[in-house]
Amino acid sequence: MTISQSHFGQSLSYINKHRSFYPSSRTIIVTGATAGIGLAVAEHLLRSSEQHLLVLTGRNADVLREFHSRYPDRVITEAGDMSDLEFVSAIAQTIQLEGRLDGLVLNHGTMGSCFRIGQMEVEDWENTFRVNVTSCVAMIQSALPLLRASHGRIVLTSSGAATNGYSAWGAYGATKAAINHLAMTLKNEEPEVTTVSIRPGVVDTAMQGDIREKFLKNMDEKDQIKFSTLKKDGKLLPPYKPGEVIAELAINAEKDLSGLFLR
Ligand SMILES: NC(=O)c1ccc[n+]([C@@H]2O[C@H](COP(=O)([O-])OP(=O)(O)OC[C@H]3O[C@@H](n4cnc5c(N)ncnc54)[C@H](OP(=O)(O)O)[C@@H]3O)[C@@H](O)[C@H]2O)c1
Repeated sequence: MTISQSHFGQSLSYINKHRSFYPSSRTIIVTGATAGIGLAVAEHLLRSSEQHLLVLTGRNADVLREFHSRYPDRVITEAGDMSDLEFVSAIAQTIQLEGRLDGLVLNHGTMGSCFRIGQMEVEDWENTFRVNVTSCVAMIQSALPLLRASHGRIVLTSSGAATNGYSAWGAYGATKAAINHLAMTLKNEEPEVTTVSIRPGVVDTAMQGDIREKFLKNMDEKDQIKFSTLKKDGKLLPPYKPGEVIAELAINAEKDLSGLFLR
């Protein structure tokens, strides 16, 4: 686990000065911020004139370093693997947030090894759940006290696979169904917090590259045809499209959306 810096700005007092100078500034954690949709979420939030403060996570330390060098005062980065639950729980607790966290974007995700259920090692199944689901629970638990106090928001990046039984995507789809359920339950258990899950569409990221290059062979023929041609037919969404929607939900999602699985 790497905790790179424990406070925003040059000194511990920076955060309170920043918040009084920019009263609309929000403090938001974004996981899976090193690529694809999560990177677009982070870029959108950082471009905002509201001068948000972000905690960004992922395993790719180079991308995180680059974010920090561009926004040394407004970005804290935590490089680590979301399957390491100690690392996950430490994130919200180790950083000096001075009693306030407004949003949690749980966007990281893996498709796992993408084998059919009959062929998949149970350890692979379990690891896919650990990364995609259990880490979200660990992160939510550690962030909840602050999110309750701020009437904050949790946005979970789900997938259409949550409601489609694509062959070879069983573990992945089950994890996304589980995080939809997490949002439904949190709506009832944590009424102070607005929690939504969202399917981003089919997006031009490394994950779609992996589907085309590594995972097609285990999929049904009709799905192979669909997923192998989307990119060349120009049918993949650019990451900034869902990225902007997710970023705006982390700031503005209305209470009546809580518990919903959004498109
Ligand atoms: N692309 C699509 O068409 C699509 C469709 C539906 C849903 N989604 C969902 O969208 C989310 C973002 O995916 P993406 O399409 O943007 O894919 P991506 O470009 O591959 O990005 C995945 C992100 O998750 C992080 N991540 C993956 N495994 C991790 C681990 N074990 N520990 C820490 N971070 C990890 C990656 O960071 P590091 O590599 O730096 O660790 C990266 O930042 C995922 O939840 C995915 O399921 C995508």
